[in-house]
Amino acid sequence: METKLLGTSRRDIIEAASLLKAGEVVAVPTETVYGLAANAFDEAAVRKIFSAKMRPCDNPLIVHISSLDMLKMAAISLPRTAIACADAFWPGPLTMVLPKRREIPYVTSGGLETVGIRFPSDRICQSIISECGFPLAAPSANLSGSPSPTNAKRVYEDMNGRISAIVDGGESMVGLESTVISFEGDSVRILRPGRISYDDLLAVAKRVIIDSGVTQKVDNDKPAASPGMKYRHYAPKARVILIESDLEAFRSYVQKNSTEGSYCLLFSDGEAIEGMPYLTYGADGETQAHLLFERLRQFDELGAATIFARCPSQDGVGLAVYNRILRSSGFNIVKL
Ligand code: TXA
Ligand code: MG
Repeated sequence: METKLLGTSRRDIIEAASLLKAGEVVAVPTETVYGLAANAFDEAAVRKIFSAKMRPCDNPLIVHISSLDMLKMAAISLPRTAIACADAFWPGPLTMVLPKRREIPYVTSGGLETVGIRFPSDRICQSIISECGFPLAAPSANLSGSPSPTNAKRVYEDMNGRISAIVDGGESMVGLESTVISFEGDSVRILRPGRISYDDLLAVAKRVIIDSGVTQKVDNDKPAASPGMKYRHYAPKARVILIESDLEAFRSYVQKNSTEGSYCLLFSDGEAIEGMPYLTYGADGETQAHLLFERLRQFDELGAATIFARCPSQDGVGLAVYNRILRSSGFNIVKL
């Protein structure tokens, strides 16, 4: 299959929408990361997403809408707290797990009675959905297991020949996937942290619970609150070792343990270790969120064998950065 590269002109958006109407898979920009989109109601189209990504079929997809009217096409009802969250954070990087309508096939929901719904703020994404007139199921546009793509070039590397088209809408603003939440009475449970933080949610909900799967390994034999938690994720080819320590302890650990092909992932240039190659991903949560996945892909291009990474703070959006890098390391964290 030839993968067509589309821009953001009106003509190209109409072309993307007509491919989607015909049951094809098209990669689209969003403010978080690029998504691999298909008609959420069309089982055959959604199956193509799973095969293009090589994704396990029990891992549900997020359904993207471009209006609150479209929400009614996918979800049966909204708890009170969900209405408050929609008011506060939509359009934006928040996914709400809600009871699904019958019209959303189990292929899309990974066999669940619930569906994750998101109203993205990206204008290009919104116009593609509106032009289609139906919600788009879209996981991140990477091959299953690798870091999510934050630009069209990275989508192309993973998806060339596997999907019909890629819409190039520039760099994703946030750089990490949306916050995923579910509702329990007046409480909100964070299943996956993102740009909408614990504190942001606490301003709207009575109680916010961070699911244990956010910072801990999920037991593969038990059902996960969010099936995506079970799988290895966001991983570059290199082995990632996450080091939670001060700079001095980090340096001496790396000096003792580095071998051929070792690299460091640092907050800033000032932390560099003589003779050790490195990349930086910034010192604050927002910059780290924006750069992390791109850096992990750059390490692959450099042929890194091992990456010694400075551990991000878990405050604000930092919790999302921590969650992704911890998973990309396969929970290989050294606390000094
Ligand atoms: O920012 C994002 O959310 C991006 C862009 C493209 O919108 N999409 C994304 O999709 O990250 P994906 O498929 O890579 O991740 C979806 C996550 C998975 O961890 C999945 O388990 C969880 O959302 N999820 C989806 N539906 C769910 C449901 N009904 N119940 C619990 N978790 C759900
Ligand atoms: Mg993903």
